[in-house]
Amino acid sequence: MSGEQEDKLPTEAELAEMDRDQLVRLGTKLDGVELVHYEDPWPVKGTKAEKRAERGVAIWFLLAALFGLAFLGVFLFWPWEYESPNAEGHLLYSLYTPLVGLFLGLTVLALGVGALTYTKKFIPHELAVQDRHDGGSDKVDQETVLAELADAGVRSGITRRNLVKRSAGLGAGVMGLGLVALPLGGMLKNPWADKESPDSLLHTGWKPQNGEKVYLRRNTGDPKAVVLIRPEDLDAGGFETVFPFRESERHDEEKLSAALHRADNPVMLIRLRPDQAVTKRAGQEDYNYGDYYAYSKICTHLGCPTSLYEQQTGRLLCPCHQSQFDVFEYAKPVFGPAARALPQLPITVDESGYFVARADFNEPIGPAFWERNS
Ligand code: FES
Repeated sequence: MSGEQEDKLPTEAELAEMDRDQLVRLGTKLDGVELVHYEDPWPVKGTKAEKRAERGVAIWFLLAALFGLAFLGVFLFWPWEYESPNAEGHLLYSLYTPLVGLFLGLTVLALGVGALTYTKKFIPHELAVQDRHDGGSDKVDQETVLAELADAGVRSGITRRNLVKRSAGLGAGVMGLGLVALPLGGMLKNPWADKESPDSLLHTGWKPQNGEKVYLRRNTGDPKAVVLIRPEDLDAGGFETVFPFRESERHDEEKLSAALHRADNPVMLIRLRPDQAVTKRAGQEDYNYGDYYAYSKICTHLGCPTSLYEQQTGRLLCPCHQSQFDVFEYAKPVFGPAARALPQLPITVDESGYFVARADFNEPIGPAFWERNS
């Protein structure tokens, strides 16, 4: 502010008596702003064109409310549990994430377009030229800027545009509800509610149910084909990826396929050489069957399949970030970012000579999760 301008500053008493219009003009003058153009978009109030513009803005806010409701409906009620590709509900399940993203995005978009349209249609069109100044703003500048903002609001007629105000409130309110629902959703659909459910995140497909045996099954590429594994199917030093199978599911194509696709089911069945010295994990000394050891195939770093096995060194390698697990020492991590041993599946052979799981894993699979104890 120049010395000449400071001389023209109103006193505090004069400032208090000035109305909004005077403050606006004072502000532009003191800031060295030249108002080239300052036009009220609707000089004649209540015309059809003005009402049409108002409805146009309201439609966007109402759309935001509708999309917000659709987002809430999908987020809370759409079937989100995993369904395997051959299952009846797979299409609905696979649409869950895209629909959540689509409706949340449309809500934000409609709110944004509504706000932009309102600004374009109702805020006074101003063309001004202003010099920048150094340092912070003084009291006069703050008061006059506030007056300018209030003036733009009043001139836009927001106080008398109930349709715009209500629709904007509705749209923003529904979107706010959606944002509140996001962190609360996990509590509404609590995956821990039924801890004994085989679908709970606390269990894998290896969890025995109703006393039924869970066999180790080969994946032949055909979900309907059931090929069970016996000890003589693996040579010394060999390995195979196996999946759970229950006799009650033999003719249920959907369940047979789901068992091959469930993320925490793949297990590496490894046959060590007979002379191989092995260190077993405390408390899991009887998890193996002779030279046969079964470890979860899901890397404890970030969940990739640890599908490379080097029989000479007994190393299981995860190709994603090169973690290595020592099968000769309870599959503990010996290289790379993984910090936890691969969970071991307790196995045995039943009276008909096939491998079966004696129980589920006793710890979480893969990179684990926030309720992990081990
Ligand atoms: S996921 Fe296996 S090393 Fe990262």
